[in-house]
Order: sequence, then structure tokens, then C-alpha cells
Amino acid sequence: MHHLLDIASLSDEDLGTLLTLGQNLYEHRMPDPQIKGWLATLFYEPSTRTRCSFTIAARRLGMEVLNLDMATSAAQKGEDLRDSVRTLSAMGVTTVAVRHPENRAIQDLSSLQNVRVINAGDGTRAHPTQALGDVLVMRSAWGHDLTNRTIVICGNIQHSRVARSHLALLPRLGVGVHLVADNDDPLDLTGPYRRHKRLQDILPDADAIMMLRVQKERMAVIPDLSRYLNDFGLKEEDAKRLKSGALIMHPGPFNRNVEIASALVDHPACMIQNQVAAGVAIRMAVLAGV
Ligand code: CP
Repeated sequence: MHHLLDIASLSDEDLGTLLTLGQNLYEHRMPDPQIKGWLATLFYEPSTRTRCSFTIAARRLGMEVLNLDMATSAAQKGEDLRDSVRTLSAMGVTTVAVRHPENRAIQDLSSLQNVRVINAGDGTRAHPTQALGDVLVMRSAWGHDLTNRTIVICGNIQHSRVARSHLALLPRLGVGVHLVADNDDPLDLTGPYRRHKRLQDILPDADAIMMLRVQKERMAVIPDLSRYLNDFGLKEEDAKRLKSGALIMHPGPFNRNVEIASALVDHPACMIQNQVAAGVAIRMAVLAGV
């Protein structure tokens, strides 16, 4: 058989051979002897860091990776997330990393039995691998005991899944979390934290300051970004008030001169690229099944 264009053009001999071989493969699932599982990434929102680092992490572990393009996948024909994951699982995918704009979408996959589900960021709820990777950076800087360290998270907290995951993680490690939001609205966050009106009030006490992007994709009303750096961002003069050894962090993607002054991205205390590198390491650990 050279081409397969339609059923009618198959000879009886080719048809018989094909069905016999296919039946054998179907009933005696051929293992992938060289491969340590298949990872599929399903990202219903854009990503550079998380998707690429899952891909690199998986390949380093000897896994094969399928990066689905949701814009051209069966999701466009109405297939829901759970059915897409079940479909991939039926093909032999062993792990899925999923990013989704809705808060509960990924948790709804937790009852699936034959596939591991890893949250790559859902709505405003959780981004666990980002928070875990960020902690690796802190531990490299300060040692593994983070007790009594002070982390300030600043900016668009209301819409930040990174802030929520840090609030779930950092207090467990003994870290004091301080929040400075970019508006006065009540924060629907759980976890021990102290809230401050102005970044400048807490800046000198911070062991790390973590700035957040304005998450326009989740906001009905977008603030005036031309004033944002002045009103809520981290400016060069702010960095001069940080104590010696304090870290400047940002989960990315960052917008220069919006939430962080452009010059601070290249500041010696800035850990943004370290956070990206740690993201690969923690995703390797997660994929390895620890
Ligand atoms: N920090 C983070 O989740 O970045 P990406 O959106 O590029 O994955």
C-alpha cells in the first residue's frame, strides 16, 4: 500500500493486511520502549514560560510531548476539557498540563483515573508550579529555612492566581506575607497575610518584593496604565530603599514601566530569569512524580 486515499482504492489484500496488523496493535497495546510517558499540554490561555518549561522538563525526563494548539483542536468544535483529556488518555497520554481561564475547570479533572493532571494555571485560583519554582529561588538565595522571612506581593492581586498559590504555600514555610493591592477593594483571599495601602510602607522590611502584572484579560475596567508605575509599580527610587540582599521578583510576563521600572529588570537583585530557570526544575520534579 503506497497511499491511503479512501476505502474504495484499497485492494482486498491490502485491506486484509491492514486490518490484521491494526487489530494486533489495538488488542496488544504496543508499549513505547524508549519513552517515559507522554505529556500533553492543553493551554486555553496564552503562555511562554509555563508551556515551554513543561516541554523542556518533560523532554529532559525522556518523555514525549504533545503541545496542543487549542485554536485548531477539537475544542473549536465544542469538545469540552474533560472529554479532550479523556481522548488524549485513550491514545496513551499519561500526563496533561492544563491552563484554563475558569477557576474550577482543572479541579473537575481530578476524578480521572488513567491520566495525571497538572495545573498550569487556572483562572484566578492557582498556579502551583509557579509558586513552587519561586520558592526554589528564595531557598537558593537564603538557605532552605525561610522562617520569618518577609515577602511583599504587590499589584493586581485580586486577579492573580500566583498570589493565591503563594498565599497557600509561603505561610506553610514560615514566611510572612504582606500584600499591597492596586485598589482598595476587599480581597477574597484565604491565608494569613497583612495588607498595606502603599508599597513604600513595607518596602524596607521586605526580604523579597514580588510585583504582579495587570491582568487585563480578567478585568472589566482597566486602570490608566500610563499612571500605573507611579501609583502602584516598583520604581528605581523604591529599589534603593530595599534592604541589602532583598530580592526583586516577578512571575512574568512583565510589562516594563507598568508594574516594574524597565531598569529594575536588569538590576542585580532581580530574580526574574532565575524564576524562569527554577520553573523548569520544579516542573521536572513534578513530572517525575514526587
Ligand atoms: N508566569 C507564567 O505563568 O508565565 P506564562 O504565562 O508565560 O506561562
